[in-house]
Amino acid sequence: MSTPVKLIAFSGSTRTGSHNQRLIELAAIGARAAGAEVEILSLRDFDLPLYDADYEKAQGIPPNAAKFKAKMVEADGYLISAPEFNGSLPGGLKNALDWASRPAPGEPEIALKAYRGKVAGIMSTSPGPWGGMRGLAHLRQILSGLQVLVVSEQLAVPLGHEAFNDDGTLKNPIYTAVIESIGKRAAQIGRALKDG
Ligand code: FNR
Repeated sequence: MSTPVKLIAFSGSTRTGSHNQRLIELAAIGARAAGAEVEILSLRDFDLPLYDADYEKAQGIPPNAAKFKAKMVEADGYLISAPEFNGSLPGGLKNALDWASRPAPGEPEIALKAYRGKVAGIMSTSPGPWGGMRGLAHLRQILSGLQVLVVSEQLAVPLGHEAFNDDGTLKNPIYTAVIESIGKRAAQIGRALKDG
């Protein structure tokens, strides 16, 4: 029996009480129900420096960025919920993705070990009426360009500040069903990719 699909789940927000962090926890329910193992991460725990080519040339990838990249490399895929900042991704999320795209010493530039052949499920929420929809399109484009298979299911939950119950569940059962379906699909496609 092949090993379970391993997904990591994180949001592009480091804010205490992040609505996007809540979303990935709900997506993880769908993925786990489909047999995947899901590890919830927070970008805050990695405290990543801004990407710096001079630093990388002199010292390689910083330890925290290497830790984050290792999590991405070890996983079969990821569940990502992206807040929208100024119509796109938060810089901290793009910075994390950029660090994880950097080759280890001796690896070809296009190795993309943290990305190539992996699956992703994406989602977003924001207090705005579109729920971060514009940034979601950018996240899909970035991950696809990095050779990740982004599942077609996705959701931008509008009015995020009013969308959740006190227990962290979503008020709208349709949103819950779609968010869990993103996790489920990522687990299913991750299985197919893993079994090749
Ligand atoms: C925002 N926010 C925001 N929201 C939105 O829907 N569209 C946008 O373009 C922006 N722009 C923006 C820029 C900056 C610098 C900040 C700090 C915030 C609001 C943002 O989506 C909101 O803070 C979310 O709550 C962030 O997600 P978490 O932290 O709740 O997960």
